[in-house]
Amino acid sequence: MAAAARKAARGLIRDFGEVEQLQVSVKGPGDFVSAADIKAEKLLRAELGKARPGYGFLMEESGSEAGSDRHHRWIVDPLDGTTNFLHGVPHFAISIGLERDGEIIAGVIYEPVRDEMFWAEKGAGAFHNDRRLRVSARRHLAEALIGTGIPFLGRGDHARYLATLNAVMAATSGVRRLGVASLDLAYVAAGRFEGFWEFGLKPWDIAAGILIVREAGGYISDPSGGQGMLASGDVIAANDHLHPALVLLLKKALQEPSAN
Ligand code: IPD
Ligand code: CA
Ligand code: CA
Repeated sequence: MAAAARKAARGLIRDFGEVEQLQVSVKGPGDFVSAADIKAEKLLRAELGKARPGYGFLMEESGSEAGSDRHHRWIVDPLDGTTNFLHGVPHFAISIGLERDGEIIAGVIYEPVRDEMFWAEKGAGAFHNDRRLRVSARRHLAEALIGTGIPFLGRGDHARYLATLNAVMAATSGVRRLGVASLDLAYVAAGRFEGFWEFGLKPWDIAAGILIVREAGGYISDPSGGQGMLASGDVIAANDHLHPALVLLLKKALQEPSAN
């Protein structure tokens, strides 16, 4: 998984260089970025298929593909952070999760600009390159830095989201919107963020991150505290101390009249 991610990342980095040039062109980099995205996905499809022939796929661009092995499936976002990439903002990632019988058992999130490989195997811990990862030890929301994803034009329920943002900004020491959901989860695992929430994510945004957060000692759930994140795309992740407090804060916010 790491080798496939690194190989695809080399192409993305080359294309990112090109995008920076295209910002000033009249046509803009839109079509070029779509092509870069699809190229990265094709390469990942080929590399992962070579390593484990028969496994199924769920990929952002090409959708779902059953394999001869009914137990295993790759869940892949070839370019997470497309909007950043398109605008020349150097913060994006490749995310690969491996699912066995509906459970995520391995995950890799690779951020090529800083050469940061976040990875985990179920039961074996989470790592940043070759260093063991651990969620942060901060115990109070008042000192917590929280990542999020803000809905945008044509996406999500803006009133519902704003109710949660209101609650979190009033209770914590800061909220960040970095634009790459997989990396937001990796940052929770690495103790950079105390927590993260976003609604309406897709399985390829979170598959790898779910396992990396858990293996780093953190908690991840949906807003009801259950484990329906892959199905609903609604995610709350945090370190072990703050997860209950963040779930409660968001739950209350979602019950406010302004959220409904
Ligand atoms: C997006 C990013 C972003 C999140 C969006 C996702 P994409 O993925 O992860 O942070 O807020 O909901 O769709 O489109 O760049 O692969
Ligand atoms: Ca994504
Ligand atoms: Ca994507």
